[in-house]
Amino acid sequence: MALRVDGLERGIYHYQAHNHRLARLPAAATSRIAAAYCAHQSYFGKAAALFIMTAVFARTMWKYGRARAYRLVLLEAGHLCQTFCLTATRLGLAPFSTAALKDSLIENDLGLDGISESVLYVAGVGLVPDHSK
Ligand SMILES: Cc1cc2nc3c(=O)[nH]c(=O)nc-3n(C[C@H](O)[C@H](O)[C@H](O)COP(=O)(O)O)c2cc1C
Repeated sequence: MALRVDGLERGIYHYQAHNHRLARLPAAATSRIAAAYCAHQSYFGKAAALFIMTAVFARTMWKYGRARAYRLVLLEAGHLCQTFCLTATRLGLAPFSTAALKDSLIENDLGLDGISESVLYVAGVGLVPDHSK
Protein backbone atom coordinates (compact mmCIF):
# COMPACT_ATOMS: atom_id res chain seq x y z
CA MET A 1 0.00 0.00 0.00
CA ALA A 2 1.65 3.18 -1.21
CA LEU A 3 0.53 6.24 0.75
CA ARG A 4 3.38 8.73 0.35
CA VAL A 5 5.86 7.27 -2.12
CA ASP A 6 7.68 9.44 -4.65
CA GLY A 7 6.95 8.33 -8.20
CA LEU A 8 4.07 6.07 -7.23
CA GLU A 9 0.43 7.03 -7.17
CA ARG A 10 -1.32 6.37 -3.87
CA GLY A 11 -2.85 2.91 -4.11
CA ILE A 12 -2.48 -0.78 -3.45
CA TYR A 13 -0.23 -2.75 -5.77
CA HIS A 14 0.53 -6.41 -6.26
CA TYR A 15 4.23 -7.16 -6.58
CA GLN A 16 4.69 -9.53 -9.52
CA ALA A 17 7.82 -11.46 -8.60
CA HIS A 18 8.10 -13.15 -12.00
CA ASN A 19 8.68 -9.89 -13.87
CA HIS A 20 9.61 -7.54 -10.96
CA ARG A 21 6.65 -5.23 -11.61
CA LEU A 22 3.88 -3.62 -9.64
CA ALA A 23 0.29 -4.10 -10.81
CA ARG A 24 -2.32 -1.68 -9.42
CA LEU A 25 -5.22 -3.32 -7.56
CA PRO A 26 -8.69 -1.73 -7.33
CA ALA A 27 -8.58 -1.46 -3.50
CA ALA A 28 -8.35 2.02 -1.97
CA ALA A 29 -5.36 3.24 0.04
CA THR A 30 -5.75 5.84 2.80
CA SER A 31 -4.15 6.41 6.19
CA ARG A 32 -7.39 5.36 7.83
CA ILE A 33 -7.44 2.06 5.91
CA ALA A 34 -3.75 1.46 6.70
CA ALA A 35 -4.44 1.88 10.42
CA ALA A 36 -7.55 -0.31 10.18
CA TYR A 37 -5.53 -3.08 8.51
CA CYS A 38 -3.13 -2.92 11.48
CA ALA A 39 -5.91 -3.53 14.02
CA HIS A 40 -6.63 0.21 14.31
CA GLN A 41 -3.20 1.08 15.69
CA SER A 42 -3.53 4.68 14.59
CA TYR A 43 0.20 5.48 14.32
CA PHE A 44 0.61 2.96 11.50
CA GLY A 45 -1.66 5.24 9.45
CA LYS A 46 1.25 7.70 9.31
CA ALA A 47 3.42 5.22 7.38
CA ALA A 48 4.60 6.09 3.89
CA ALA A 49 3.98 2.53 2.73
CA LEU A 50 2.82 -0.80 4.05
CA PHE A 51 4.09 -4.13 2.69
CA ILE A 52 1.39 -6.72 3.10
CA MET A 53 2.83 -10.23 2.97
CA THR A 54 0.50 -12.99 1.86
CA ALA A 55 1.19 -16.66 1.25
CA VAL A 56 -0.02 -18.92 -1.56
CA PHE A 57 0.36 -22.15 0.40
CA ALA A 58 0.30 -24.48 -2.62
CA ARG A 59 3.61 -23.00 -3.75
CA THR A 60 5.27 -24.63 -0.74
CA MET A 61 2.94 -27.58 -0.17
CA TRP A 62 3.86 -29.33 -3.44
CA LYS A 63 7.18 -30.17 -1.81
CA TYR A 64 6.50 -30.48 1.90
CA GLY A 65 3.70 -31.89 4.04
CA ARG A 66 1.12 -29.52 5.40
CA ALA A 67 2.56 -28.76 8.85
CA ARG A 68 6.12 -28.41 7.54
CA ALA A 69 4.96 -26.29 4.61
CA TYR A 70 3.20 -23.96 7.04
CA ARG A 71 6.34 -23.77 9.18
CA LEU A 72 8.44 -22.90 6.12
CA VAL A 73 6.05 -20.20 5.00
CA LEU A 74 6.20 -18.55 8.44
CA LEU A 75 10.01 -18.80 8.57
CA GLU A 76 10.23 -17.27 5.10
CA ALA A 77 8.00 -14.35 6.08
CA GLY A 78 10.27 -13.71 9.07
CA HIS A 79 13.39 -13.74 6.89
CA LEU A 80 11.78 -11.45 4.35
CA CYS A 81 10.67 -9.00 7.01
CA GLN A 82 14.12 -8.93 8.61
CA THR A 83 15.68 -8.18 5.23
CA PHE A 84 13.08 -5.46 4.69
CA CYS A 85 13.93 -3.86 8.07
CA LEU A 86 17.68 -4.00 7.41
CA THR A 87 17.32 -2.55 3.91
CA ALA A 88 14.99 0.25 5.05
CA THR A 89 17.36 1.12 7.92
CA ARG A 90 20.31 1.21 5.50
CA LEU A 91 18.29 3.64 3.35
CA GLY A 92 17.81 5.93 6.37
CA LEU A 93 14.12 5.09 6.73
CA ALA A 94 12.18 3.87 9.75
CA PRO A 95 10.75 0.36 9.36
CA PHE A 96 8.25 -1.50 11.54
CA SER A 97 6.38 -4.76 11.48
CA THR A 98 3.14 -5.99 12.97
CA ALA A 99 1.15 -9.19 13.15
CA ALA A 100 -1.81 -7.43 14.79
CA LEU A 101 -3.91 -7.42 11.64
CA LYS A 102 -7.53 -7.40 10.57
CA ASP A 103 -7.01 -10.47 8.39
CA SER A 104 -10.50 -10.74 6.90
CA LEU A 105 -10.69 -7.02 6.12
CA ILE A 106 -7.37 -7.14 4.24
CA GLU A 107 -8.20 -10.39 2.45
CA ASN A 108 -11.57 -9.07 1.39
CA ASP A 109 -10.04 -5.89 -0.06
CA LEU A 110 -7.31 -7.83 -1.86
CA GLY A 111 -9.66 -10.49 -3.20
CA LEU A 112 -8.03 -13.38 -1.29
CA ASP A 113 -10.02 -16.34 -0.01
CA GLY A 114 -7.99 -16.54 3.21
CA ILE A 115 -7.50 -20.30 2.78
CA SER A 116 -5.44 -20.96 -0.35
CA GLU A 117 -3.88 -17.51 0.03
CA SER A 118 -3.94 -15.60 3.28
CA VAL A 119 -2.33 -12.58 4.84
CA LEU A 120 0.57 -13.29 7.21
CA TYR A 121 2.44 -10.21 8.19
CA VAL A 122 2.67 -6.49 7.53
CA ALA A 123 5.85 -4.46 7.44
CA GLY A 124 5.92 -0.76 6.82
CA VAL A 125 8.16 2.19 6.50
CA GLY A 126 8.14 5.87 7.28
CA LEU A 127 10.57 8.71 7.69
CA VAL A 128 12.79 8.93 10.75
CA PRO A 129 11.49 11.75 12.98
CA ASP A 130 13.65 14.87 12.92
CA HIS A 131 14.43 15.42 16.62
CA SER A 132 16.65 18.44 15.89
CA LYS A 133 13.61 20.74 15.43
C1 LIG B 1 6.29 -10.08 14.90
C2 LIG B 1 6.23 -8.66 15.38
C3 LIG B 1 5.00 -8.08 15.64
C4 LIG B 1 4.91 -6.76 16.08
N1 LIG B 1 3.70 -6.20 16.29
C5 LIG B 1 3.60 -4.91 16.68
C6 LIG B 1 2.34 -4.29 16.85
O1 LIG B 1 1.29 -4.88 16.63
N2 LIG B 1 2.31 -3.01 17.25
C7 LIG B 1 3.45 -2.29 17.49
O2 LIG B 1 3.36 -1.12 17.86
N3 LIG B 1 4.67 -2.84 17.32
C8 LIG B 1 4.76 -4.12 16.92
N4 LIG B 1 6.00 -4.71 16.73
C9 LIG B 1 7.22 -3.91 17.03
C10 LIG B 1 7.52 -2.83 15.99
O3 LIG B 1 7.24 -3.15 14.69
C11 LIG B 1 8.97 -2.41 16.08
O4 LIG B 1 9.77 -3.53 15.88
C12 LIG B 1 9.27 -1.79 17.43
O5 LIG B 1 8.47 -0.66 17.53
C13 LIG B 1 10.75 -1.44 17.61
O6 LIG B 1 11.15 -0.63 16.56
P1 LIG B 1 12.52 0.20 16.64
O7 LIG B 1 13.52 -0.74 17.21
O8 LIG B 1 12.79 0.57 15.22
O9 LIG B 1 12.21 1.36 17.51
C14 LIG B 1 6.10 -6.00 16.30
C15 LIG B 1 7.33 -6.59 16.03
C16 LIG B 1 7.40 -7.90 15.57
C17 LIG B 1 8.77 -8.48 15.29
